[in-house]
Amino acid sequence: MTIKDNNQRYGKVSRILHWGLALLILWQFLSAAARFFFEDTSIEAFFWPTHKPVGFLILVLMVLRLVWALLNVKRRPESVNLLAKLGHASMYLLLIAVPVVALFRQYGAGRSFEPFGIPVFSGFEGEKIRWMIDLGSDFHSTLGWILLALVVGHIMMAFWRQKSDKTSVIPRMWGK
Ligand code: HEM
Ligand code: HEM
Repeated sequence: MTIKDNNQRYGKVSRILHWGLALLILWQFLSAAARFFFEDTSIEAFFWPTHKPVGFLILVLMVLRLVWALLNVKRRPESVNLLAKLGHASMYLLLIAVPVVALFRQYGAGRSFEPFGIPVFSGFEGEKIRWMIDLGSDFHSTLGWILLALVVGHIMMAFWRQKSDKTSVIPRMWGK
């Protein structure tokens, strides 16, 4: 297994990023679902406090993943079709846009942000920045749920290709 990608399969770095982020994103949707379905219960109390810090970690790792993808763009396996290409690109876009609009809302509301105790920005007193709050409130959860639909579609397509007589793409991302 090589560090970099090649045109047959993804390399070590892409795989670690893919599967590591898949786990973090799964956790992120568990916390979102806990808030949506189990407000004011011990389930929400357990999952929800991790939502902002883990969301921020996902953003940082996605920026690294984007840089890595661009560095490897000529080497990686070719997308099986246009739908796969657009689907992958949309997941990148949303995995960056969804946390970014939440951070705008956090900042615009004058609230400080210290994920894992790291000071990212401090809060302020006085008038709130309306457009930043609206950006987050209008788009964060809607785009978040759209992202979940894309992820579910992505996983189903991977298994469907495996089951049908199409060439499987799973060995590109998993196994030798
Ligand atoms: C990739 C990262 C993220 C994903 C996929 C995500 C997803 C979601 C989803 C689906 C909801 C809707 C829950 C509901 O309908 O009740 C939500 C709510 C929320 N998220 Fe995130 N989130 C992410 C990152 C963040 C970050 C970084 C912050 C804070 C800086 C944040 C703050 C919030 C807040 C305050 C809510 C509740 C208000 C609302 O529904 O908009 N999220 N998130
Ligand atoms: C939160 C969960 C997931 C996200 C956000 C995600 C996202 C992506 C993205 C963006 C790619 C393009 C390559 C890259 O830049 O890394 C990719 C490739 C791939 N993913 Fe996922 N993935 C997730 C989970 C899964 C799961 C559970 C499977 C299991 C079947 C899977 C199977 C694959 C395969 C086989 C490829 C290579 C596809 C190809 O080259 O055409 N993914 N994934």
